[in-house]
Amino acid sequence: MPQEKEEVDQLLDEHRACLELLNRVEQCLEGVTGPVQDDEALSCLRKLEDTLQKHFKGEEEGFLLQLPLECPHLAARFQKLEDEHSGILDSLSGVLKNAGKPEMDAADRRPGSLKDHVQRLFVTIRRHEAEENELVMEAYWDTLGNID
Ligand SMILES: [Fe+2]
Ligand SMILES: [Fe+2]
Repeated sequence: MPQEKEEVDQLLDEHRACLELLNRVEQCLEGVTGPVQDDEALSCLRKLEDTLQKHFKGEEEGFLLQLPLECPHLAARFQKLEDEHSGILDSLSGVLKNAGKPEMDAADRRPGSLKDHVQRLFVTIRRHEAEENELVMEAYWDTLGNID
């Protein structure tokens, strides 16, 4: 794992950027109980979708390919994280599809359900990225130990 330090740093930076976006969306949604009509909230959610698509793709072509080969004992845990990507993106695209639709809450019969959906999704994203940070650090230290 030669350039691993830079890769780990880049991953942590990308995670920080994602988490900042989540915080911004949450700030925008504070006090919202119905459909999300706030332009800033919607544009943050769209930016989040774009950011996560690129971020996940980068992971799938980067450490998620590489680290399971170098650390086969961690492969199942990496696979589980990779498998979560499509669910997170589907869920986010569902949120965006419903955001701003006035009929959404009536159809769902739960006031603020979109916000609930966003909150549940964000719990998943935060847990996903935190697990990834831990696992990548674990792999990093394991590989460092094997260098000689
Ligand atoms: Fe990921
Ligand atoms: Fe990630």
